[in-house]
Amino acid sequence: MDFAWEELTDDERARHYADWQAGKGLIGGDPRRRPHFDRLPAWGMDRPFVRALALNDNRAANGERFRREVDSLRPLEIEIGFGRGDFLLDRAARLSDSRFVGFEVRTKAVRLALRRLEKGGLENLWLSDDDVRVGLPLAIPDGRVDAMHVLFPDPWWKEQHKVKRLFSPPFVDLLAAKIQPGGYLHFKSDVEQYAALVRHLVSYHPAFGDHCPGLAERVGSYVPTHREHWCRENRMPVWVYFFPRQGKT
Ligand SMILES: C[S@@+](CC[C@H](N)C(=O)[O-])C[C@H]1O[C@@H](n2cnc3c(N)ncnc32)[C@H](O)[C@@H]1O
Repeated sequence: MDFAWEELTDDERARHYADWQAGKGLIGGDPRRRPHFDRLPAWGMDRPFVRALALNDNRAANGERFRREVDSLRPLEIEIGFGRGDFLLDRAARLSDSRFVGFEVRTKAVRLALRRLEKGGLENLWLSDDDVRVGLPLAIPDGRVDAMHVLFPDPWWKEQHKVKRLFSPPFVDLLAAKIQPGGYLHFKSDVEQYAALVRHLVSYHPAFGDHCPGLAERVGSYVPTHREHWCRENRMPVWVYFFPRQGKT
C-alpha cells in the first residue's frame, strides 16, 4: 500500500490545528464522553497506572503518587505507543535512577505490561492507556521530559484514517512543549515515507534541530521493541532519527 505525503500548505496546516482542537482522530473517541471517565478502573487502583482524567480520583493513591514521581528531580523518559513494552521495561530496569511513563492506548496491552512491571519489581515506571494526545498535555508538566521515544507508530495507511496519525504540526508542538531544552526525541519507523514525513515535520519546527546521529549514545544498549525485532528477523530496513530539543538548558 502507498504512503504518500507532500509538504503541507498553509490551509492544510490550519486544518490539522482545527482537527486537533476538535479532538478528531483520538483513538476510541473523546474520553470525556465515556462513562466514569474521571474514575480509575478497579483493576488499576493502587498500582503504577495513571489516567490523566482520573488524576483526582481519591478512592486510590494513584494520582498523588504519580504527581510525586513527576515532581521529583529525577530524569524523566516517556515512550508513546509501547505495545508489548519490551523496550520500555528493559530501559526502566537499566536506568533505575530515572523515572519512566509509557502511554499505550490498548488497555489490554497496558494490563499485560503492568503485570510484567510488577513481576519485575520495577518501581520507576508508570503506565497509562490514555491516547497520548489527551494524557501528555494533562499529566506531564511542560519542559519536564528528558527523552521521548516514539518507536514504530502506526502509519494509518488509508486516507480516511490519516487523522489518527500521531505526527502532525500540533503533535510536534506538544512534544516541543514537554521535552526540555537539551532533551531529545527518539523516533523509528519501518515505513520510509512516514519517516520522511516525520523528519520534515520535526526539523521544520523551531524547537528541534535536524536528526543528530550522535544522540544514539544517549539511548545506548537496548532491547528492541516487538516491531523492531520483527524487522531484524525479516531483514526489513528501519529509519531511525534522533532530534535534539534546542534552546537554553
Ligand atoms: C505499530 S504499534 C508499535 C508498538 C511498539 N512500539 C513496537 O514497536 O512494537 C503502535 C502502537 O502505538 C499505539 N498507539 C497508537 N496511537 C496511539 C496514541 N494516540 N496514544 C497512545 N498509543 C498509541 C498502538 O496501540 C500500538 O500499540
